Formats: sequence, C-alpha cells, structure tokens
Amino acid sequence: MAGKPVCQNGQSTGQTLQGHLGARARAYGRLPLPADLNWWWTVGAILCAILALMLLTGLTLTLAYTPDAGLAFGSVEGIERRLPAGWLLRAMHMTGASFFMLALYVHVLRGLYYRSYQSPRIGVWMSGCVLLAMAMITAFAGYVLPWGQMSYWGADVAGKAVGALPLIGGWLEGVFLGGDAPGTPTLHRMFALHFGLAFLIIGMVMGHIAVVHARGSSSPSARPASVTGVLPFHPYFTVRDMLAIVLVAVAFVAVLCFWPELIAEPANYRPANPLHTPADIEPEWYFLPFYGMMQAVPFKLGGLLLSGGAVAVLFAVPWLDRKVGDGQGVPTLARVAAMLLLVCSAVATAFAGAHHMQGNWLLVARLGMVGYYAYFLAYLPLCRVLQQGGKV
Ligand code: HEM
Repeated sequence: MAGKPVCQNGQSTGQTLQGHLGARARAYGRLPLPADLNWWWTVGAILCAILALMLLTGLTLTLAYTPDAGLAFGSVEGIERRLPAGWLLRAMHMTGASFFMLALYVHVLRGLYYRSYQSPRIGVWMSGCVLLAMAMITAFAGYVLPWGQMSYWGADVAGKAVGALPLIGGWLEGVFLGGDAPGTPTLHRMFALHFGLAFLIIGMVMGHIAVVHARGSSSPSARPASVTGVLPFHPYFTVRDMLAIVLVAVAFVAVLCFWPELIAEPANYRPANPLHTPADIEPEWYFLPFYGMMQAVPFKLGGLLLSGGAVAVLFAVPWLDRKVGDGQGVPTLARVAAMLLLVCSAVATAFAGAHHMQGNWLLVARLGMVGYYAYFLAYLPLCRVLQQGGKV
C-alpha cells in the first residue's frame, strides 16, 4: 500500500471499480442481523426478485407494443399470438404484477405488525411508503396500456375521480387524459409513466435497502441485539431468502399455468369501446379495497379523499405510534386482533368494491372503511398505552 493515496477509511483510493463493488458486496454479506428474524423478513428479497422479473419481461414487451388508441389492442394481440413466446412473456408480466402487489401488501403488514416503522427506521418506512405509491401508479398505468374495455373505462373513472378535486381537478384531468376522453394522448402519458416510474422504482429500492443497511433490521421480538444475538446476512439469511424465492416461483408457475383466470379479467380481452360502458367497471384485485372506499361515499370528492387517505395515512404511521422506551411491546393478543381488524376490513371493502354498491354491499364497504381507519387512528395511538403493561 506504501505510496498509494489512502482515503479516510484506510482504503486505497486507487481501488478499481470492480474491487470497490466487491468490497461493498462483502460488507452487505457481513451485515449483522438479529438472530431471531423470521420468514416474514424474506418478503423484501422476494419483492426484489419479482421486480427484476417485471423489468426483464416489461422491457421485452415494449419492443412489440404500440401506444396508440387504434393500434394498442392489436399490438398486444400480436404479442400473444405471433411473437415467439410472447404469450409467456405477457403472462409472466401480468402474473408478476399481482404477485408483486401481494408481496408488497404482506411487506407493509409485516412492518405494521412488528412496528418496524418506529425510530430509528422512520426513513426506511417513509421510503417504503413512497415506493408503495410509485408501484400503485405504475400498476395502474400498465393496466391502461392493453386498451381493452377495462383499460379504457378504468382510465375514464380515474380521470373523472381526479376531476372532482377542487380548484385543480379540471386541469389535472386534462393533464391525465390529454383530452376530453381517454384516447391516444392518454396512452402516451400512461406509457411514459409506466416506463419511467419502473426505473425510478429501482433507484428508490436501492435507497430503501441502503437505509435498511444503515439502520439495521428490527427484531420480531423487539428486543435489543445484545439479547437476540446477531448472525451475518450471508449465508444465514441469503439461504433462507433464496428458498423463499424458489417457493414463490413454484406458486407463480402454478398460477400462470393452471389458474390464469385468477389474474386475468375477461372484459379486458375485448377491445376498448367508448360507446359501450361495461355493466360493472372494476379495477385489478389489489385496488379493490380503495375502489370500494371510493364508491362507499355518496359524493365524489369525499370518496376520492377517503380512498386516497387510506394510502396517505401510512405516511403518518411513525407519528401515530411513536417509540417510547426500549424493548417493550404491545401484548401479542392485542396486536393479532388489530391486524385481523385491518386485514378483514380491507378484504370486506374489496369484496364490496367488486359488487354493485348498494344495499348490504354498501353497508359492508362502510363498516370495512371504519375498521380500516380505526386501525390507524384509534389502535396505533393506543399502542403507547397498551405497551405500558405488556411485553411481547
Ligand atoms: C418495491 C418495493 C419494496 C422493496 C423491493 C423492498 C425491499 C426491502 C428489503 C430487501 C428489505 C430488507 C429485508 C426485509 O426486511 O424484508 C426491506 C425492509 C423494510 N421495508 Fe421494504 N421494500 C419495498 C417496499 C416497502 C414498503 C411499501 C414499505 C412500507 C410502507 C417498506 C418498509 C420496510 C421496512 C420498515 C423495512 C425494515 C424492516 C426491519 O427490518 O425492521 N418497504 N424492504
């Protein structure tokens, strides 16, 4: 090393890029993690794997897709029927979107259940919330691209919902649709959004993981590392992550090959027809809870605010349940009951969202919405009181 310029951390500044990357990878491999991490901590790695698949299949699909209202549906049909293995690429991209959103929801629920959003991981949580919003916009924009019946009418509903915002609504609707009704300008916008956001998500994920690295993982038992003990990321957790990815891959292939109807919406295999409104316009399953909330309110702006608020409230979580003291937890029974309330409420609003919103379904949607918000606005602030007495 003598004679070579040396930087603060003692490494030679003359290091090659390859050497630097190797050193970073080794540092990540040695990362000490709480020894009691459970399988829920593999979902982050699963998300990374699906994201890689989405990028690869998405970039390949782009080569044969045409973002024009007169040609988009036909170009997707061409991919399905004429492009070699095109049907497989498209099926992987569509199934991947559903698996990604499912994994994302599980990841968020894991964070809520184990209160991983508390200091010192507020930055991890906030970057995650931005990622969730970006993923939702990307998924919505992607669904418009095939220009089937649901794509068209989904864009129409979203445009009108945005238009209900006071003051800027009309302007935003114009920016979103690029005209009075969905058409080629809408497709150009959605294509640019879908393509561009995918790359921004990659950058954001790298930032998210860097913050996890800097702050360290929380432990499911909420105990300090001195109690749980630590193990290096590699090989202890890399092996489990890989096994989890393989298990998800098996489920992925099973859905793709044997139950494609779980993912595909038949109405979207009909070309967009601006003159024929489908009897029931409904989004992909992962938007149904929010769609249900939007419809459960009799006036548009209220529905828009409550369904948007259901995502926005996640940004406030670290302040709704602030950290007090160390190593204390909310009793498991209370946490399980609260988690059941949240999940059942979201599922109930989703079912209501998939039905005509009247009679009993309207009641179900409203009760579900109350349960959903109760988790954030009543249970989380109450955690501080609950944790005084109980240990996890
Ligand atoms: C593209 C989406 C995302 C990817 C690829 C991703 C990836 C990861 C990875 C690899 C980890 C470390 C392993 C693990 O704990 O599972 C992690 C941790 C974490 N993520 Fe995400 N994440 C994403 C979205 C989100 C979202 C939407 C949230 C919450 C709103 C979130 C919150 C967290 C938290 C709090 C941790 C730290 C958990 C802990 O150890 O205490 N992430 N994420």
